[in-house]
Amino acid sequence: MSKLIEQLREKRNLTDEQLKELIETDGYDKELFASAVDIREKAYGRDVYIRGLIEISSYCKNDCYYCGIRRSNEKAQRYRLSEEEILECCVTGYDLGFRTFVLQGGEDPYFTDERICDIVGKIKKRFPDCAVTLSLGEKSRESYQKYFDAGADRYLLRHETAGAEHYRKLHPAELLQEKRMQCLRDLKEIGYQVGSGFMVGSPYQKTEDLISDLRFLQELQPDMIGIGPFITHQDTPFREFTSGELTLCLRMVAILRHLFPEVLLPATTALGTIHPSGRELGLLAGANVVMPNLSPVGVREKYSLYDNKICTGEEAAECRGCLENRVASAGFQIVVDRGDRKNFK
Ligand code: 5AD
Ligand code: FES
Repeated sequence: MSKLIEQLREKRNLTDEQLKELIETDGYDKELFASAVDIREKAYGRDVYIRGLIEISSYCKNDCYYCGIRRSNEKAQRYRLSEEEILECCVTGYDLGFRTFVLQGGEDPYFTDERICDIVGKIKKRFPDCAVTLSLGEKSRESYQKYFDAGADRYLLRHETAGAEHYRKLHPAELLQEKRMQCLRDLKEIGYQVGSGFMVGSPYQKTEDLISDLRFLQELQPDMIGIGPFITHQDTPFREFTSGELTLCLRMVAILRHLFPEVLLPATTALGTIHPSGRELGLLAGANVVMPNLSPVGVREKYSLYDNKICTGEEAAECRGCLENRVASAGFQIVVDRGDRKNFK
């Protein structure tokens, strides 16, 4: 084994210079990925957790330059799901073995705290053995507290990039990196299992930004880390930029597994979009979660964060079956389980 990987395994850390070497070299990949799978196996065996993703609204008041549902995209088709539709997705999902539901959406003022708490309460009442994850963007600490009191278990909010200058290149001035990071700290303090993460290969990203991402996550110590390639969307200001690369993404997944042995790490839909076996390769680089789509088929194409998103034509059951096979082909197995972070108190 190379010295670098040996040290990474032993110390669960490297210096900035060593990380740079690892991120920018492809010669380490084979042993890096194998080592990551070994670490995930010690924590989670060969189990893969599934999360049913329900995309509740494509309205968004934000204007992030990379995202297809940004408010300035007049071509975006807008929809929001009713409470009944959301609950129906959960019923379908429960029967398919899902024990975590992720309600994700743009920052849509229609979904007031009251509406969100109402929906969370109803899901928890009907499915007491399930976890509810929210992914609804930046809110006040008071709002986060209300959702938590209503029964929400987890919250996903990617920091997108920890580089200060880079953050300003991806977002309009009204969105502040400091605010985003404060939200994450608030969520942790309230008691959520917290997920953060970043895009790989986003415009203007440098290796230094990726290292900052790792350092920020080491400080935050999240329970989940979602990363995926930036993927071009034709109706955004970033239409001319190329998508992030598969191997760099896999390398970052594997590095994350070393720095955070017990973290929940999804093989994301974006990874599956840039390569036909992207998610399987993600599992083989240390990921242990997949998040198939439970949204009604009629709205899936409208939740278009990036071009060519996979699974938009498939029914929930088809996605579930497809993933079962994909996960098995990589040598893992899907389990019916809430899939909490190991040792979360
Ligand atoms: N490519 C890849 N990921 C994207 N996201 C938004 N737009 C894109 C894109 N064009 C990601 C962001 C966000 C998550 C919900 O989707 O990281 O946090
Ligand atoms: Fe949706 Fe394969 S996971 S079709």
